[in-house]
Amino acid sequence: MTWSGKKPKVLVTRKIPEKGLELLRSRVELDLWDYDDIPIPKEELYVRAPALDGIIALLSDSMDGAFFHRAPNLKVVSNYAVGYDNVQVDEAAKRNIVVTNTPDVLTEATADLAFALILGASRRIGEAERLIRKGEWKSWGPTLLLGQDVYRASLGILGLGRIGKAVARRARGFSMKIFHTGRAREDDAETGSRWLPLEELLAASDIVSLHCPLNESTRHIINRETLNLMKPSAVLVNTGRGGLVDQDALYEALSAKRIAAAGLDVFDPEPFPANHPLLSLENVLALPHIGSASVAAREGMAVLAAQNLLAVLEGKEPPCRVAP
Ligand code: DGY
Repeated sequence: MTWSGKKPKVLVTRKIPEKGLELLRSRVELDLWDYDDIPIPKEELYVRAPALDGIIALLSDSMDGAFFHRAPNLKVVSNYAVGYDNVQVDEAAKRNIVVTNTPDVLTEATADLAFALILGASRRIGEAERLIRKGEWKSWGPTLLLGQDVYRASLGILGLGRIGKAVARRARGFSMKIFHTGRAREDDAETGSRWLPLEELLAASDIVSLHCPLNESTRHIINRETLNLMKPSAVLVNTGRGGLVDQDALYEALSAKRIAAAGLDVFDPEPFPANHPLLSLENVLALPHIGSASVAAREGMAVLAAQNLLAVLEGKEPPCRVAP
């Protein structure tokens, strides 16, 4: 309840797992956008904005100055994601709007999917599956679909945060040599990962996996120049954000076999057009941004997003506040 005795008005921009909605129903006046799993159009968002005290937003919702300007009573943007590149955090801070996110609950699910892409892209799983379904499998062959080994390969991690470390822990089970780069410039005792400058990491790694947040210093961190530093046998995996990779440069590198393969769960833009040249390449294993799409992770995100939102509306410190 607010000081005036009225329940705060909250918009949830897509149907999230019921456990999160349950927490909200008795404590807020809930407006749920639930139409065929399509994102809320900007006009609909803007129509609702003036009445809102809080919002649970998805990574596909642009939480920017133009929206905040229309939402003078807004106190909290609870992002249903760990990444928050869809939120203009500084614009929110100027207006005393608290921004929160959902770390931890999706770490292991996302790391599992990154590892699925590491294995799948290295061993050409997508190509192999297409071949058998098309009825083109003629016989067992000594040179059929030869890929890259993962066991004992070297793994370069860009961004050894929660998810990067969870991937590194999995890599240890595959006896991989692990490198990372990032601002801390130090080796990581927990995962046995060695810090390397970006250029050295790219040159030394058989597999490069992206786990850094998307911001102005990481946008297109994988570009023509950095792709040229990678081994011709290298595999690139991206479960972070599409904007980390210059997709035109990646297309060129993959089609010219400058690197061996890519496993991509994230794109720029999303949804990614099916006729994009990258998707015509056999050495691309592509998924529709499902890193955190396990039942448990999505439930955890829903509960945490609801807890974050309610804490702010009740004048308490939320479990996961994003620093401006
Ligand atoms: C996130 O949380 O940032 C993921 O990309 C979606 O789960």
